[in-house]
Amino acid sequence: MTAPPELAGLAELADRIERLSSLGADALDAEEHALLGRKGGLLTAHLRTLATLAVEHRKAHGARVNALKGRAEELIQARRQALKAEADLGRREAVDLTMPARRRWVGAEHPVTRVVDEIVDIFRALGFAIAVGPEIETEWYNFLALNFPADHPAMDMHDTLYVDAPPVDEGTPGGRLLLRTHTSPVQIRVFQASAPPVRVVIPGMVYRSDAFDASHSPAFSQIEGLAVDEGISFVDLKATLIHFARRFFSPTTKTRFRPSFFPFTEPSAEMDVECQLCHGGGCPACKGTGWMEILGCGMVHPAVLEHGGVDPERYTGWAFGMGPHRIAMLRYGIPDIRLLLEGDMRFLEQFASR
Ligand code: DAH
Repeated sequence: MTAPPELAGLAELADRIERLSSLGADALDAEEHALLGRKGGLLTAHLRTLATLAVEHRKAHGARVNALKGRAEELIQARRQALKAEADLGRREAVDLTMPARRRWVGAEHPVTRVVDEIVDIFRALGFAIAVGPEIETEWYNFLALNFPADHPAMDMHDTLYVDAPPVDEGTPGGRLLLRTHTSPVQIRVFQASAPPVRVVIPGMVYRSDAFDASHSPAFSQIEGLAVDEGISFVDLKATLIHFARRFFSPTTKTRFRPSFFPFTEPSAEMDVECQLCHGGGCPACKGTGWMEILGCGMVHPAVLEHGGVDPERYTGWAFGMGPHRIAMLRYGIPDIRLLLEGDMRFLEQFASR
């Protein structure tokens, strides 16, 4: 019995199928197509021609071709698995477990942000809300409403950065626009927005026409505090600020109040805390005094209440202003304010683990 010419070459085909086991991924795909492809596949063509064979050939050759097809499918599947396993192994070996780990970047709050948040939290626990106001103010809010006399030297172009824009309410005094020199003008805005009782802390940036050196910056932060209600006295001021200092610095931190002057408070005071570096012994940071000034404060001047539309016969209150940049310097022993403003990573990274 001789094979019909259509089935010649099955022996070579069988060899070709056995070679599937050594092919790479791309060659394997190509061979799969060449052998089993639905259209031009060689084995597919052989199966199709079976129908044209004489009955006596059909069974034997049909079995032969089907066996080759089965073998081809089996080898292709096995080879695919082997190639995948090799690739997985290769990927695993590419990871060198003995290499030192890459250092992770740990984000951190800026020391001034941390100081502001801590101060705000201490006052929030006492029932103070947070208020904010605009950084571009009028002369009236920044100075006149706060009882500065119209010829006060702080209003001089030397000390205050004026905005080159037309004044608001042309013709009325105090309409010139400026960058606020302190957060105190927000006191007036708070009075205008809500009647007493008022208890707020007001964080924000302020601007002055100052040099940029170790102890000055034209831009720095302040936090204002304001408490106005019936029957508020200097005792409330002292008790609250001493509580704050003990919370913020340490429970045993000593404080002292010294008389001072601000146009918007009467009486006025400055509060010192014991030097956080030498704890009172005297060091270069506190110029040998053992004390560090941290804030200005006082009883809100009746004229200020009146400018804010608050009846000074009925209400009294106290206020304070402090500088978080300065307080961060005192607390962390930072000798130069520029370090807090320049964004140098070598400096800032030191706060990542604190
Ligand atoms: N505004 C003052 C300043 O910038 C700080 C200040 C002092 C604010 C006494 C107050 C205060 O509210 O009562 O220097």
